[in-house]
Amino acid sequence: MYPIFLKVAEEEKNKEAYWTFDVANQVEEIHAGLYQKKLDSIGENIEVTYYVCNFCGNTVEKDAPDICPICRAPKSEFKKID
Ligand SMILES: [Fe+2]
Repeated sequence: MYPIFLKVAEEEKNKEAYWTFDVANQVEEIHAGLYQKKLDSIGENIEVTYYVCNFCGNTVEKDAPDICPICRAPKSEFKKID
C-alpha cells in the first residue's frame, strides 16, 4: 500500500505526504519484524518491555532510544508499554 502512496506523493511533489507515508512504511516494517520475532519465540518464556514513539508509532524493545531513528522525536516522547 505505502509504496504506491509514496509514488503518487513523489509525482505530486507533496513532501509532507511523502514524509508521512515513508514514516508509516518504515514503522510497519519494524512492527512486522517484532511480530515475527514474537511468533518465533512462542513457547519461550521471554518478557520484553516495549517503548512506542508518540509521534510515529515506532516501537523498540528494552529501552527507548535518545532520538527516534524514524522521526527524530526525543526519548521523552516514547511511552513504555507494560
Ligand atoms: Fe518516532
